[in-house]
Amino acid sequence: MDHSATTPVDQLVVDAMIPYFTEIFGNSSSLHSFGGEAAEALSMARKQVAEAIGALPEEIIFTSGGTESDNLAIRGVIPYNTSKKHIITSVIEHPAVLNTCSFLESMGHEVTYVPVDTEGIVDIRKLEESVRKDTVLISIMHANNEVGTIQPIKEIAQIAKKHDIYFHTDAVQTVGKIPVNVDELDVDMLSISSHKIHGPKGVGALYIRKGTAIEPIIFGGNHENGMRSGTENIPGIVGLAKAMSLAQQRLNADSKHMQEMRDSLISRIFDIIPDVRLNGHPVQRLPNNINLSFKYVEGESMLMLLDMKGIAVSTGSACSSKSLKASHVLSSLNLEDDYIHGSLRISLGRENTMEDIDYVVESLKETVLKLREMSPLSSQ
Ligand SMILES: Cc1ncc(COP(=O)(O)O)c(C=O)c1O
Repeated sequence: MDHSATTPVDQLVVDAMIPYFTEIFGNSSSLHSFGGEAAEALSMARKQVAEAIGALPEEIIFTSGGTESDNLAIRGVIPYNTSKKHIITSVIEHPAVLNTCSFLESMGHEVTYVPVDTEGIVDIRKLEESVRKDTVLISIMHANNEVGTIQPIKEIAQIAKKHDIYFHTDAVQTVGKIPVNVDELDVDMLSISSHKIHGPKGVGALYIRKGTAIEPIIFGGNHENGMRSGTENIPGIVGLAKAMSLAQQRLNADSKHMQEMRDSLISRIFDIIPDVRLNGHPVQRLPNNINLSFKYVEGESMLMLLDMKGIAVSTGSACSSKSLKASHVLSSLNLEDDYIHGSLRISLGRENTMEDIDYVVESLKETVLKLREMSPLSSQ
């Protein structure tokens, strides 16, 4: 129930990767035939990844994951030789974007963090108002990893185009869940991570539209057309490509299955547990995301009790991910503190079943009622 954090690697992906550890282990830059075989696998993987998102193979750069792709997109288009440049992003981005932006601020650049409404949709009017003559980049995520809200990417792309600004989107949470096509979304750069789509960890890709003026952030032997040096992780890249192809083939069936489970869980929880709210957008949301807030209980306590029942979830409450701060995303939705502290993210995966949902609903009911019985704030 925590697939937005990571997913198990699909057996078909593992099978595709294995030969590249043992038999076809060459360095893709070597001129001999061992290297040639690896180079062929790399080229095939690039084609598969490109095809899955409607891009050209030469527009795909392999990276170490979503974090590096976000870093490359943002730092890569900020010119090194000009003093001050302006970036627009949103207050609910992933730390891979937010912390890259704050680093750039410390280097003298300026960043506008556009607010979102109470359902997590970026304020388009404020976004356009914040455009300046020296704005070089807009970076807005395709869907949020905590509350699952899907952003109006095409509308934002139109604003970027109108003002001749590069547009990057972090699509780490959307690939395999909703359609992701770079031309339909009209983006210049798009980040992908393998481990969120049943691929291996530590590998990802950045789509860079042909003609985008971007510089590398990692220098060395000019791999990846000079955009990302370092001997390519062929098994990982082959795994990513296989995971992308599977995600694309299974998109309709998987998203329908996850959405049915999501809607069933939400309606049953609302039927049996009082004082609960759904965070994020009711309709414009990822098919696998459920983010609920239960009044009078702590997210961490729910997480621990559910863990003891074999259910893995996450929380935006204060101690989530070992940080001491409550979720910046939930705070940006103007949620009352009570609700932030009692938040729980359930993120479904394609291998979950309706039986799993039955078990989660029953366990959640027991957990919330038990904690409320102990809470001095609850009248129940
Ligand atoms: C929206 C989003 N962007 C970026 C990342 C980072 O991806 P990776 O773990 O591949 O570095 C994540 C992972 O949690 C994410 O959810």
